[in-house]
Amino acid sequence: MDVAAFGNISKKKIKISQRRYLGSKSKLLEFIEDILKKESVEYKVFADIFGGSGVVAHHFYGRADIIVNDILKSNYLAYVAYFGKGRVRQFYIDKKIEEYNALDSKNITENYFSINFANTYFDRENSLKAGAIRDDIELQYTSGFINNRERAYLITSLIYALDRIANTVGHYDAYRQVTIPKRPLILNHLELKVCKSKSWIYNMDANNLVKLIKPDVIYIDPPYNSRQYSDSYHLLENIAEWKKEPVYGVARKINRSHLKSKYCLKIAGETFSDLIDKIDAKYILVSYNDMGKNGDNRSQSRITDHEIISALERCGDVKIYEKSYKQFTTGRSSKKDLSERIFFCRVGKSPQKRRLQVFVSKGDERREFIKSPLNYTGGKYKLLPQITKFFPDEIETFYDVFCGGANVGINVNCKNVVCIDKDSHVIDLHHLISTVNFDELHQNILAIIDRFGLSHSFVNGYEVYGTESSKGLGQYNKDKYLLLRAEYNKMEQSNEKTLLLLVLIIYAFNNQIRFNSKGDFNLPVGKRDYNGSLRRNLAAFNRAAMEKVIKFQVADFKDILKMPLIEKDFVYLDPPYLLGLASYNENGRWNENHEKKLYWVLDKLNKRGIRFALSNVIEHKGTSNKILKKWIESRGYRLNELDFHYNNSNYQSKAKFDSSLEVLITNY
Ligand SMILES: C[S@@+](CC[C@H](N)C(=O)[O-])C[C@H]1O[C@@H](n2cnc3c(N)ncnc32)[C@H](O)[C@@H]1O
Repeated sequence: MDVAAFGNISKKKIKISQRRYLGSKSKLLEFIEDILKKESVEYKVFADIFGGSGVVAHHFYGRADIIVNDILKSNYLAYVAYFGKGRVRQFYIDKKIEEYNALDSKNITENYFSINFANTYFDRENSLKAGAIRDDIELQYTSGFINNRERAYLITSLIYALDRIANTVGHYDAYRQVTIPKRPLILNHLELKVCKSKSWIYNMDANNLVKLIKPDVIYIDPPYNSRQYSDSYHLLENIAEWKKEPVYGVARKINRSHLKSKYCLKIAGETFSDLIDKIDAKYILVSYNDMGKNGDNRSQSRITDHEIISALERCGDVKIYEKSYKQFTTGRSSKKDLSERIFFCRVGKSPQKRRLQVFVSKGDERREFIKSPLNYTGGKYKLLPQITKFFPDEIETFYDVFCGGANVGINVNCKNVVCIDKDSHVIDLHHLISTVNFDELHQNILAIIDRFGLSHSFVNGYEVYGTESSKGLGQYNKDKYLLLRAEYNKMEQSNEKTLLLLVLIIYAFNNQIRFNSKGDFNLPVGKRDYNGSLRRNLAAFNRAAMEKVIKFQVADFKDILKMPLIEKDFVYLDPPYLLGLASYNENGRWNENHEKKLYWVLDKLNKRGIRFALSNVIEHKGTSNKILKKWIESRGYRLNELDFHYNNSNYQSKAKFDSSLEVLITNY
């Protein structure tokens, strides 16, 4: 066919939506907007973090500033072209497009594209042309004739042109084994929106991106099943990247290992939960179409409704909107009429609070620490920025002795961690929290809350319980809590009993743990319930524990000497303090004999060349721990002073009443 005859077609402008894209939401744009209207959502910044074709971001571009992202470079380049900041010089683009459309394959020499793709997805003539055009775009760019956006514009125009004539059923998993119909390769101009909105464009893993952005609305449209987009669009990715890599197999795919999406793997549920926990936005919208058991194996959805809802419920109220619509599938699935759902979540009142708390240490380093869901008096959470600074960089196994809530063990930058505590209740709780999938644990907790009729303010608010946040939920929960406590105390030890203990702690006074001398849990009811921060702490702790090789063990501190310690190991100890008033030190359970035995154990470790760090309070309300001072001096250990109130704004006034000197004693 004579290309010149199509010269006028190059004046046609291509809309961003004029591309076949698996899972494209081009038919759902009004639906999304209606939800935002119905929910009276006000927004200035809209983020589309699994942007795909970019149609959703495009719809909101002009209505809001946009953030748009995709893991695939071919999509990213389209965003740069359609939403980018650089200038597009029309006369130059006109000239290039005309020149490209006028190319005659007879004058083009063999190139990367024709060698690898002639007579597969495209005929030989178009393959020669595509290779030559792509080479020229790169040459134009590297020679400084076009800018980054113009480069993206031309590549996008080429991608749209190729996609229109490809000998496929809409994706590049395979090409049709038929005589390739003769269709000319025609590049067109792009229809750019002129508006004042700002745009931020990314090409990265969405789970990493969400740590960097703070939009008002975040729209999440991940892949639904095991089909990797990088498999379906490898050819377009090849053109976008243009690294001229070798291609493999009948489908001629490049190496795509770096483009694999976790949302297509078995870990999709966890990945999604991790994403949601890291989001800082006011509203979250999730498109996810549960194919259930319908469709072929590869079409089955990777994330369950339950996983979506429970992750979102940790952030705020969740609603589900549903609409039936015809989806563009890969052609093999028998399902055509799908019901597309959008999960809408209004994030709790102060989104900042949802984040794991960030402390700024004196050195101004920022690091996020996980707060143990088990609230121990003397817990080291607030001191973590200071304590962890003293830890060596390279540790083989970290031992957290007297671990309590394990704030230190869970946060330490070391893969192998052993947490030791004499209290079997606490170790049982750790086993429970860190060995099951969080969703399962969450559901089990909800079932107990339900069984005892305890409050659930996270979902129902406070009004339903005849109270408000400042008054708390103690009054409402008291009787139910006492029933739960009685049942717990009479039960034989079992996993179920540990689960009841966890729920007891959630509803107990200050979330603490305390048993009387008969071994009965004896704390009164508290003001709070299974609220957002507790859920987040629990989920974060669970996730961090799953990522480490962490062991929880019932053992006495002396047993550390029996452990298989090697020189690269490290022992951290946070014993009850002689000067402290923690509940675990009540009834004189920790005395001078214990203290001296502890020094003896540490001296032994020191002799064996094992590094240790011991937390303690050396001065408290005018008294000092003299034996500790003497021991440190006689052994030549280092006394590192910590500032307990360093992060507290009213440090001065507090210090007057409560002058404790927290220290970390190290033998290195
Ligand atoms: C269902 S599609 C999105 C469709 C899009 N809303 C549209 O209307 O065209 C999912 C997109 O997520 C991208 N993706 C998959 N895993 C990703 C990840 N971890 N981070 C960012 N993008 C990802 C895929 O490349 C694909 O374009």
